Amino acid sequence: MASDLRSSEWYSGDDRNAYIHRAWMRRGVPDTAFRGRPQIAIANTASDLTPCNAHLDEVAQSVKNGIYEAGGIPLNLPVVSLGETQVRPTAMLWRNMAAMATEEMLRANPIDGVVLLGGCDKTIPALLMAAASVDLPAVVIPGGPMLTGHFRGEALGCGTDVWRLSEEVRAGTLSEALFERSESSMIRSKGHCNTMGTASTMALVAEALGTIVPGLAGTPAPDSRLLEASHETGRLAVQLVAADRRPSTFLTKASFHNAIVALAAIGGSTNAVVHLLAIAGRLGIDLTIDDFDRIGAEVPLLVNLQPAGRYLMDDLYRAGGFLAVLREVKDLLDPTALTITGRPLVDYLDDARIWDADVIASRTQPLIPAAGISVLRGTLAPGGAIIKPAAASPHLLKHRGRAVVFDSIEDFHARIDDPDLDIDENSVMILRGCGPMGYPGMPEVSNMPLPKKLLEKGVRDMVRICDGRMSGTAYGTVILHVTPEAAAGGPLARVRTGDWISLDVRNRRLDVEVPAEEFAARGVSDATVRGFADPRRGWERLYVDHVMQADTGADLDFLVGSSGSTVSRESH
Ligand code: FES
Repeated sequence: MASDLRSSEWYSGDDRNAYIHRAWMRRGVPDTAFRGRPQIAIANTASDLTPCNAHLDEVAQSVKNGIYEAGGIPLNLPVVSLGETQVRPTAMLWRNMAAMATEEMLRANPIDGVVLLGGCDKTIPALLMAAASVDLPAVVIPGGPMLTGHFRGEALGCGTDVWRLSEEVRAGTLSEALFERSESSMIRSKGHCNTMGTASTMALVAEALGTIVPGLAGTPAPDSRLLEASHETGRLAVQLVAADRRPSTFLTKASFHNAIVALAAIGGSTNAVVHLLAIAGRLGIDLTIDDFDRIGAEVPLLVNLQPAGRYLMDDLYRAGGFLAVLREVKDLLDPTALTITGRPLVDYLDDARIWDADVIASRTQPLIPAAGISVLRGTLAPGGAIIKPAAASPHLLKHRGRAVVFDSIEDFHARIDDPDLDIDENSVMILRGCGPMGYPGMPEVSNMPLPKKLLEKGVRDMVRICDGRMSGTAYGTVILHVTPEAAAGGPLARVRTGDWISLDVRNRRLDVEVPAEEFAARGVSDATVRGFADPRRGWERLYVDHVMQADTGADLDFLVGSSGSTVSRESH
């Protein structure tokens, strides 16, 4: 047996422990399976309750074939799965739990390497956080986006068009019956959301990081090339063990630089900011929220996908795919950053081509010349807040208006359509109590629906400010991830309805126009405090006690960093 395999600590030798470890795994498997062959886990987020990942068992079968073919032993490892549309109160509350559970199970078992199967929003971030902390050779396979559905002749972007259609119903321009009929057209096939939402973003960004075989991310879930690539990735996983290519050996600040460039060029979800910060934290890489502005702000938007644009993920694949996008910004990428194959990312770009310039714009004719995420600071967000200008209304990027404040999402729902609510299109809507601690779990509620009375007047966007997140499939002039959040003592807790708020994205400012002394002397109202979560037990209590703020990735404080794959105690 190759004694340097981690799994040999379980399987080698003639003692009682080795006997037990081998015997219970035999079950028709030959003895040679435990003698010198890499044991490769397939961390599989397939679940009927995660519909975007339900097809991953089929993908896992292709991975298994590749692992066997290369001489490894594949081991299916179902891990905590998070279905974005099903899990309450928000899947983000459970991302760190999924990461922790996966990390612990990889460490606890006789595993030499792992293939990570994810798709729906939180699953790839959680798997990467786990892999970074346990630091075993690991490669990601993204489950891929679904095919485009159509309704009454129009392509439907899942997520984005739900918001659009529901706003049309509220504005009285679409009937309830037609809205309901669109439901069965929204999800056409297996796969995750087909807009440039968080799932698509994280798959592409994970490839830019180097954790996916270049060219694979964005392959539609029903496309047979996904299975072909999964087979090859299974083979690669065996080689990774031989090469000892663990996350800590190739993921560097340069990798995150490339991920941030990619995030801007694709017009990706703002959720990628918290996920990348959390992954970097696990690796001990000094990534800050300001790196997103510094590296990404001037990167052009090249991908014309919903929610900021027109097309959907299978259009992107048809038009040349992610590598064609990266080729356009090759000069902005760090050439030293390696991928899971051992070769630099930039090595994979020369053969890429744009086949449809309406979907992927060239560098010389970008959709927006500077499209990255902007980081704002000021008296309302001393620790930072972010905005995605590409999804905002240009005329609102510099704005001054009076605050209309809501203490919780429940307060918002109770009052937003009140005809007597004192609000107009120049108002600034503020929602607090939605940060990592306050909700808890930092839900995607920052893109508050507009008041019905303003929708009926034709208003389609307003400045909105929140300490929560925004769905990657949403759009609007929304300032989110305000840090510190209200529940952590941030100034958002002290702002009042009627205060003047000024936003200046160009100068990266977000301020409340109240004299500093007066503002500091203000207390926090009982109604505001009642909006903050105070769970009594279980994961929610643990989470609230230990979650960090959005500007450091909203990980738990005791999960930051890597503890490696060493098991603390001998068994039996
Ligand atoms: Fe799973 Fe959108 S709900 S990716």
